[in-house]
Amino acid sequence: MNSGGVRVVLCMSLLLASTVPLLAAENAHLSIDASKAGAKIDRNLFGQFAENLGHGLYGGIWVGPDSPIPNTRGIRNDVVAALRALKVPDVRWPGGCFADQYHWRKGIGPAGQRPSTLNSAWGNVVDTNSFGTDEFMDFIQQIGSQAYVSVNVGSGIPQEAAEWLEYMTAAAPTALARERAANGHPDPYQVGFMGIGNESWSCGGDMTADYYLSQLKIYSRFVSNDNPSQQGPNQMLKIAVGPGFPETDWTEAVMKAWQRHDWSWNIDGLSVHWYTVPNGWPPSTPSTGFGVDDYAKTLKSTLFMDEFLRKQESVMDKYDPQKKIALVVDEWGAWHAPLTGTNPSFLVQQNSLRDAILASLNLNIFARHADRVRMANIAQMINVLQSMILTDNEKMVLTPTYYVFKMYVPFQDATYVPVAFDAGTYTQGSTSLPRVDALAARDAAGRLWLEITNLDPEKPVKIDAEITGMTVESAKGETLTAPAVDSVNAFTAPDTVVPKAVSTSVIGGKLVLTVEPKSVTVISLAP
Ligand code: AHR
Repeated sequence: MNSGGVRVVLCMSLLLASTVPLLAAENAHLSIDASKAGAKIDRNLFGQFAENLGHGLYGGIWVGPDSPIPNTRGIRNDVVAALRALKVPDVRWPGGCFADQYHWRKGIGPAGQRPSTLNSAWGNVVDTNSFGTDEFMDFIQQIGSQAYVSVNVGSGIPQEAAEWLEYMTAAAPTALARERAANGHPDPYQVGFMGIGNESWSCGGDMTADYYLSQLKIYSRFVSNDNPSQQGPNQMLKIAVGPGFPETDWTEAVMKAWQRHDWSWNIDGLSVHWYTVPNGWPPSTPSTGFGVDDYAKTLKSTLFMDEFLRKQESVMDKYDPQKKIALVVDEWGAWHAPLTGTNPSFLVQQNSLRDAILASLNLNIFARHADRVRMANIAQMINVLQSMILTDNEKMVLTPTYYVFKMYVPFQDATYVPVAFDAGTYTQGSTSLPRVDALAARDAAGRLWLEITNLDPEKPVKIDAEITGMTVESAKGETLTAPAVDSVNAFTAPDTVVPKAVSTSVIGGKLVLTVEPKSVTVISLAP
């Protein structure tokens, strides 16, 4: 282009810049009575899922002690440091579909003596079994989390699961406890949660509800946690398989049986799986290079989570009005098309601002259902589906979804406070969505936390939040947004979607701020 061309382009840009008006802000009024307390927002709602799938474990967590990538006993230091900041309450492992083909004995003992097996759940790749039970527990301790172990009901037997739990949790000098000690771990591990099977209506063995129930009762009866420190209030919670579809027959069967259970078996939770797959199976939405139409359709689809939970809850309430059984959403998140050039069985996708907004909408839904939904695990932690972290050999990048989980840390174990607001409507083509969403909670120190999601990709929203029930003196917070709905953090540009400080003012007890288009904002309000 000659210099005249450059001049023309510059002039046009200046002209456009001076004539394109900034879109006027919409207004939203929120009203919060901080003295009204709802359910506890259980910290386990912010749990994660790490399946033996693709590079979720191998490469993502485990590089081995001889790797040039800085590690502690084979576990990546960069990943551990990043996850510690999220205060991950629990990690579900080893699957997923993988759990029902996993035989734990292949993953213990000296590294060189473990057999190689095929990961028939995910691409038939060779599994060295280097990352087994003791490595998982080491990882859990390094990140300061709790173990949620899924036992094999599909291709295993109750004895195998019972022995696995004994290996992990027995303090008495049984043969299995001595084997654990010989493997370097004399003290018993804590296992916070045990999942009895996974998607037993499909990849877990295509069972009928009645067949699964007969297995559930046996596993619940005979597979126990022997750790002396977990016999009281801290005991391991047993989680049964529930549906991955809106229909409620499976839930009905499990809850009906539970209502009649005797001393010999029990459960504490019912697992449900619900992914955001806007165009149906197989997942086809691109995880990069999409526009606002795809963005709006995906968010519309994710909001179905609320109805999905309501349907299951209505059945649970019938058999368990005291809400003893938790609804555990132990697989959720956006499932997009695999990235071009990757192994489709490895479920690799990018993670954009759209996914961050989707995460905040789901977390807010879970919090609104907190009296029944007391645990959830995003799928998945690293390099698989809607992950927190992406790695490529020595490189690591934190995704937009990671930052949402970080911003929501103050909501862990906080008390839900209802927020009244008129969300307004954002319309994109034929898709209509609420323009804003909001969540409030009080923490143990008495601070009020307010989250506001602006779904509208173009218009800022001026928020005025009237707060009663507490005197608010100051507010501060941060917001997550980016230039485009499909903005991502790349290894070469890791700070495209990162939280930044937001300006707020408190006038006469009222919080005033403007939230940017397509953003997630968290504010703390101190008395
Ligand atoms: O998260 C990927 C897979 O999705 C899990 O293995 C399975 O439980 C679900 O179908």
